[in-house]
Amino acid sequence: MTAAAAPLTSRRNGPLAGRARVPGDKSISIRALILGALAVGETRIGGMLEGEDALSTVKALQALGARIERTGAREWLIHGVGVGGFAEPAGALDFGNSGTGCRLALGAVAGCPITATFDGDASLRSRPMRRVLDPLERIGARTLASADGRLPLTLAGARDPMPIVFQPPVPSAQLKSATLLAGLSAPGETVVIEAEATRDHTEKMLAHFGADVRVEAQGNGRRITLSGQPELAPRPIKVPADPSSAAFPLVAALLVPGSEVILDGVMMNPLRTGLITTLGEMGAAIERLEQRDEGGEDVADLRIRAGALRGVEVPAARAPSMIDEYPVLAVAAAFAEGTTVMRGLKELRVKESDRLAATAALLRANGVAADIEGDDLIVHGNGRAKGGGTVTTHMDHRIAMAAMVLGLASERPVAIDDGTFIATSFPGFVELMRSLGADLS
Ligand code: S3P
Repeated sequence: MTAAAAPLTSRRNGPLAGRARVPGDKSISIRALILGALAVGETRIGGMLEGEDALSTVKALQALGARIERTGAREWLIHGVGVGGFAEPAGALDFGNSGTGCRLALGAVAGCPITATFDGDASLRSRPMRRVLDPLERIGARTLASADGRLPLTLAGARDPMPIVFQPPVPSAQLKSATLLAGLSAPGETVVIEAEATRDHTEKMLAHFGADVRVEAQGNGRRITLSGQPELAPRPIKVPADPSSAAFPLVAALLVPGSEVILDGVMMNPLRTGLITTLGEMGAAIERLEQRDEGGEDVADLRIRAGALRGVEVPAARAPSMIDEYPVLAVAAAFAEGTTVMRGLKELRVKESDRLAATAALLRANGVAADIEGDDLIVHGNGRAKGGGTVTTHMDHRIAMAAMVLGLASERPVAIDDGTFIATSFPGFVELMRSLGADLS
């Protein structure tokens, strides 16, 4: 990701049409790599995301002693080392732009008697790690060096890991997952109590690999209990298409008049479908065709037809199920009639960029009225956007892609300063959008 900045521009160009499949889910790809590395034997992954975030996780796991090979397009083979079996890496582990790769690997390393240094790019270095270190230190890991709870940091894994009961202070699947991965090495039961349910891919995949995981409803959230020191048995993983990536062509198809697009094999895990629920409330025509189960996840082909949208209020409680989709929802809201209020977006401030500020700035630069009030984002839609702006992406792939979607439907073209980071989660974005008829250059 050290390549020179690559500016991109999108502009109006007739309806979008056709059928496409977006890359594999980022959350599932990263978890499959890490659990494959912690299983004993060979795990095969099909449909893996070959984006920078997954590839930096591959390199880190190789440095920790797992053998990982690419056996075909999106097909990978992992020779795992077993729970607690990581070797001390020779140099710093570089997670690039990937918060998920870094935080989940912190959890996996915390349960091994090794010392490792974690680092990343300027965006990742600015993100909070203290929230993950707290439960890992209770399990027995020690933070040897870290400026202000941020990367670069050095972690000494626990020699005698202790099971804990942990209530994450913020709804975060990364925090939950890091704690469970560290808890794999502890004897007895590690418990995570979530006040609000977040994506459950780690729990589901641990069970798929043979761990004893119990999930019970508790209030609005969940209580997850993991029995420690399992032997994880390799199981094949088929990665569904990423709903957070599908969000970009999906919203583009809603906004560009006359469009009709089908997106194949999109994961419909209910803890990831908040955007589809919200767009439905706004009046969007999104049909789920061929609903099916693939590798333990609900999957559907989505048929999207362009049409008018109206402003809505999005409750804070929905945020965990669409946390990565707010930038592109804000773009949809710009083209809706009326005001859209998105509540409870505090966590957006600590994503790849301050996404709350970056989303408001992306709209304002293109003639759309947007306000931030406390942790809420308010977009005043009037069915159209002027465009004509250049958006600063702040090393944030989702800000980059949301801006490109805006330009496809606005009166004047929209430019971004740098499209390189799109490859963290959505390699081939430009080509896929062009195959549907979008003008991106
Ligand atoms: C992810 C969890 C979310 C999300 C990120 C992927 C995961 O982060 O924003 O893109 O795979 O667990 P938080 O857990 O910090 O909310």
